[in-house]
Amino acid sequence: MTYHIPVMVKEVNEFLKDAKSVVDCTLGGGSHSFELKCQMPNVKIFGIDRDSEAIEEARKNLSKFSDITYIHGRFGEIKDLIKEPVDGFLFDLGVSSHQIDESSRGFSFRQDGPLDMRMGGRSASAADIVNNSSQDELFKIFKEYGEERFSGRIARAIVEKRQGKPIETTLELKEVIEKAIPTWKKRETNTRIFQALRIAVNGELDELKTALNDCVPLLNPGGRIVVISYHSLEDRIVKWFFREAAKPLDGDKTRGKDGILDILTKRPLTAGEEEVQDNPRAKSAKLRAAERT
Ligand SMILES: C[S@@+](CC[C@H](N)C(=O)[O-])C[C@H]1O[C@@H](n2cnc3c(N)ncnc32)[C@H](O)[C@@H]1O
Repeated sequence: MTYHIPVMVKEVNEFLKDAKSVVDCTLGGGSHSFELKCQMPNVKIFGIDRDSEAIEEARKNLSKFSDITYIHGRFGEIKDLIKEPVDGFLFDLGVSSHQIDESSRGFSFRQDGPLDMRMGGRSASAADIVNNSSQDELFKIFKEYGEERFSGRIARAIVEKRQGKPIETTLELKEVIEKAIPTWKKRETNTRIFQALRIAVNGELDELKTALNDCVPLLNPGGRIVVISYHSLEDRIVKWFFREAAKPLDGDKTRGKDGILDILTKRPLTAGEEEVQDNPRAKSAKLRAAERT
């Protein structure tokens, strides 16, 4: 079994401890679901992932448990995937360690691989975007999804470079980025540009907005949504969605006077020092939770 330590597992298990059914919207290798099943052997789990390799891995890792339904699909289509009310939704956003470590998936600038970055499906790859978008479109992707101050320089450098030959690999892109920026900014700029492309390739922010909207009507009263995000763009979406859903809406009978969600985390929870030492991935994690009224 390949076991990756799941992020903020104590907090996740605490928020979902009374659930009889949970949708793990980002099943990955199944480590969060594994921990939920260890704590609550009778919980029914629906595990969704858009990556067929993740589903296969989770099937192996969770083979000793019953009552798990594996669903290959996007959480953005949750209303077509889940047909019964449940007590919990868990989102552990972003890429899995498996996806990052596998050079052929093209997510990492630390190893050479095709510039792909698709978590699943047959949409445009990162290479398609890098080689076919206009300079202005690239600038917008880097600025909006990477919040990168050298977006203009990098977009221009890409357009110049690809006139000779398309940019096809992760290390080719890394080289173009590094030539366009001051040397002391290399690591963080590469991180931001690769993140921006990944978000664009997988439509990550729209997926999250749609899923949050569509999972609330599927929650039983008292059911909970738990979201772990790893960058401010995702965290902001969750924060504003929870705030809006917690507001009472005049004239909306379904919401009563209290709003449809109660926010359980006034501020996002973060991982403790000890957890970050054991699992560096937890460093940027922010967990927010809300409960259906
Ligand atoms: C951080 S990993 C989850 C790790 C998992 N919690 C575990 O314990 O092993 C995120 C997973 O979510 C999946 N994912 C990301 N966006 C998705 C989406 N829109 N729909 C379905 N799965 C998605 C990725 O393919 C990846 O496997």
